[in-house]
Amino acid sequence: MNRRYRKTIIAGNWKMNNTLSQTKAFAEEIKPIMPKGKWCNVVLCVPATNIQAAVRLFKDCHIAIGAETCHELDHGAYTGEITAAMIKEAGAKYVIIGHSERRQYYNETDFTVNKKVHAAIEAGLVPIICVGESLEQRELGVTMELIAYQVKCALANVAPEKVRHIVIAYEPLWAIGTGKTATAEQAGEVCQAIRTVIRKQYGAHVARSVTIQYGGSMNAKNAQELLAQPDVDGGLIGGAALKPADFVKIIEAANQE
Ligand code: PGA
Repeated sequence: MNRRYRKTIIAGNWKMNNTLSQTKAFAEEIKPIMPKGKWCNVVLCVPATNIQAAVRLFKDCHIAIGAETCHELDHGAYTGEITAAMIKEAGAKYVIIGHSERRQYYNETDFTVNKKVHAAIEAGLVPIICVGESLEQRELGVTMELIAYQVKCALANVAPEKVRHIVIAYEPLWAIGTGKTATAEQAGEVCQAIRTVIRKQYGAHVARSVTIQYGGSMNAKNAQELLAQPDVDGGLIGGAALKPADFVKIIEAANQE
């Protein structure tokens, strides 16, 4: 990571886990053990029903709250969906967009991802845009082309001054929830390639200020090595973000780097 130019962000992705009472219990447990130094920004992306309470519960320990997805439109007859403005008014600052589970189970394409990125920015949220290849794609040797394509689509028609503040998470599909982490070199290589794509499109000034995270079985043990890569500016963490002690260890690893 490179603290001089960009934020380090450790973000948890709770997915479909934790009720309101479990969120309260998590807050109680993490508060006394949260590192005091504020080197890195810490975010928890929680189920929509918990956003408002989580904003209150985690305020004291400087954990910002995010949502896990949003709809691309700002209102309408879309039963069950929520807009970026609703998320913003609930007090969240971030929203994950295009997570591979959304792409896989809810048919989100690179084009819907782009619309959602615009919706998030419009509402004043920071999008955490997920990109990543499957095992088959990695074995075919098309990882870099695919990632470049995903990044370009996600950012299409986004103004350079807005791109500076977005977050991109490189999450190889084969590493999500599998316990199989990318090596630090693999993570570093793809995160560097993402920055190169941004540099070519938007220039060096924009590219160096974008936070690029690694996600996929990041845990208390491997975090430090992954975060030591110059282009890995943080992590998007699923499983290990459900356990306060493990999540704190990852934050500590980010603070040390
Ligand atoms: P994992 O999930 O850390 O459990 O692999 C990461 C993610 O899906 O964002």
